[in-house]
Amino acid sequence: MADPPHRRRAHVRSSDLERYAGLFAQRTQVMRSSAMRDLMAVTARPDVISLAGGLPDTSTFPPQTFAAQMTRIAQESAAEALQYGPTEGFRETVDCIVEVMGAEGMLPDPEDVIVTTGGQQAIDLLCKTLIDPGDAVICEAPTYPGAIPVFCSYQADTIQIECDGDGMRIEELEAALERLDGEGRRPKFVYSVPTFQNPAGVTMSLERRRRLVELARSRELILVEDNPYGLLRFGGESMPPLYQLDGGDFVIYIGTFSKILSPGIRLGWAVAPPPVMEKVVLGKQASDLCTSTLTQYFVREYFAAGRWREYVSSVSEIYRERRDAMLEALEQHFPPQATWTEPQGGLFVWATLPEYIDTGDLLAKALRKDVAFVPGQSAYVDDRGRNSMRLNFSAGGEDEIREGIRRIGRVIAEQVELYGALTNPAASSAPAPAKESDMDSPGLPRPGAAGSKRVGGDVLPFRKAEGE
Ligand SMILES: Cc1ncc(COP(=O)(O)O)c(C=O)c1O
Repeated sequence: MADPPHRRRAHVRSSDLERYAGLFAQRTQVMRSSAMRDLMAVTARPDVISLAGGLPDTSTFPPQTFAAQMTRIAQESAAEALQYGPTEGFRETVDCIVEVMGAEGMLPDPEDVIVTTGGQQAIDLLCKTLIDPGDAVICEAPTYPGAIPVFCSYQADTIQIECDGDGMRIEELEAALERLDGEGRRPKFVYSVPTFQNPAGVTMSLERRRRLVELARSRELILVEDNPYGLLRFGGESMPPLYQLDGGDFVIYIGTFSKILSPGIRLGWAVAPPPVMEKVVLGKQASDLCTSTLTQYFVREYFAAGRWREYVSSVSEIYRERRDAMLEALEQHFPPQATWTEPQGGLFVWATLPEYIDTGDLLAKALRKDVAFVPGQSAYVDDRGRNSMRLNFSAGGEDEIREGIRRIGRVIAEQVELYGALTNPAASSAPAPAKESDMDSPGLPRPGAAGSKRVGGDVLPFRKAEGE
């Protein structure tokens, strides 16, 4: 028998583009790719140390537990687990969700919950429900890089409000709301990741949370609280989620099992008031009918064993050690001009470099040294963030993190030296950066390092150098 014909699609030719160009919907012109998805192609190489992804370390989940639960499902409920399910999700899954939210002090009405295909789908469904082209949406600056492609797909006018070490600056939000009032526009919602933010690792202060919720209530403004990391705390006081402060009238909540169990099961959720939920359910029917029955069965089994909190604490402890390794390595290998956040939980550190360093260009150089990070610009809809980067500390072990930071430190040092040589040739011979031969005994000259940065405090020079 002849081999089946193979399709070759090595390159998109211009004739291919012409053939389809007239068919594309307008929204495709403003669609953006997720920086992390693009990077995944490179970072999948085993020789690359990736500090780019937002990957939890799934090797920490005991394989025997996974095997035992899946075996039980196969033996006891194979036909049901392989079947379609309700669009809203199974009641048993919702019970698990209520338990997870209860662990952070929230008491949602199970009727207000929909199980989604990851938190990402919850963002998408809310945008599908609430956004018309040109509608204003407000979020943090920087914001979750995976939310930007969603806002763009629905052609939102995305307005970003600067953050500092206490989260979104509420006075700037108020100013933006006044500006919109003046234009006769009402923003559809304010999207926030208030706890251990992706990408900056910062947490909104209690005072700002209260002000934000008050603002929402007085203005009848919808807040979308996205909280994948709240339970991954390794220091500091726990903070009430916005949802808890508001009680669910003006806060729509997004959660996920991705970071407390597994992203591979693609299970998340949204909690919204009934009128919004009704539309979200219609949107989900059109998108994918229902979330995976099989993985909902897995969550049900896993929660029935009653040890999920134990797993979350053990994995948080591992991440705490990795965070510490990253902070130590940053201190050792990044130049004195750099600053970074010191997260009390979650998966990310956000580092800010001198203004003259473009982290997009720096990434190309870093990849040549087999290390990757997410350039800060992917967390902005505009030109901001060019001299910053997101660094993940959950995916790899401590040695890998140290080595990754050392390599990035080297490419930064080269840029700093180059800049010094170009702007001040006479002095350029003075602070020599580490050389390739120093690779095994790393350490950049760090004059005045101790006083040069502020970590974990209330000042976050996200894009501006001190004094600007
Ligand atoms: C803030 C935030 N929201 C949503 C998501 C999407 O997660 P998932 O779709 O895996 O639940 C992520 C993933 O990293 C995230 O950081």
